[in-house]
Amino acid sequence: MKDKLKMVPEHIAIIMDGNGRWAKRKGLPRIAGHREGLKAVRAVVKAARKYGVKYLTLYSFSTENWKRPEDEVRFLFHLMEERLRKEGQQLHKNNVKVSFIGKKDGLPAKLVKTMGCVERHTFKNTGLTLIFAINYGSRQEITDAVKRIISSGEKDITEDLIEKNLYTVGIPAPDLIIRTSGEKRLSNFLLWQAAYAELYFTHTLWPDFKEDEFLKALFDYQRRKRRFGGLSG
Ligand code: IPE
Ligand code: IPE
Ligand code: MG
Repeated sequence: MKDKLKMVPEHIAIIMDGNGRWAKRKGLPRIAGHREGLKAVRAVVKAARKYGVKYLTLYSFSTENWKRPEDEVRFLFHLMEERLRKEGQQLHKNNVKVSFIGKKDGLPAKLVKTMGCVERHTFKNTGLTLIFAINYGSRQEITDAVKRIISSGEKDITEDLIEKNLYTVGIPAPDLIIRTSGEKRLSNFLLWQAAYAELYFTHTLWPDFKEDEFLKALFDYQRRKRRFGGLSG
């Protein structure tokens, strides 16, 4: 399979959607869907390493997800903290560099602390860069960038300057954005960075998205002709 893959995206970003619907179909509470979604996270991280993806960004909590019931929000943060704390060491052993984009404000102190630990611990790793978007919103990211530029006094506004002030500084733009669960929207995810990303939508719900589904997306990507506004040769 692997040698059939010619063009592996350098950066894949995923909108992991459909945990709630997965649980509902099984007659389970929504949180059971979030737990099950972790299995897909592990499978996709493994597959990304296997196929040589350099950057994998996972949309884990949006700035709009605060609108959800408090219990669900609390559970999500608890789950993230626990898994990061317990699985950080394994990621480190696998040479994965973990980082985060989004606003720390409002997140539980314990989670922020664990995020910092894992980030520092894996900072020098040279394998897959795994980026979790937690309390992330693109509009907020761009607004923050503009604020920072204004307070720096810089008058010469360039695309490059804006890019350097985004949370994603130093990370190449995503080549492929995947969204599961049949929704066809970006939901405030990487709006600036997605300018020339290839988009892939699947009806598969996130907890069911495993290596085979990941490969399907990679094969679909291979058939795309990226032109970036120019003409294809
Ligand atoms: C994605 O699944 C997980 C998060 C947004 C945190 P959802 O919880 O949005 O699942 P659906 O869309 O309700 O099925
Ligand atoms: C997007 O999913 C956010 C994450 C996957 C973290 P949502 O389920 O929150 O998106 P909408 O509300 O359906 O657009
Ligand atoms: Mg959803």
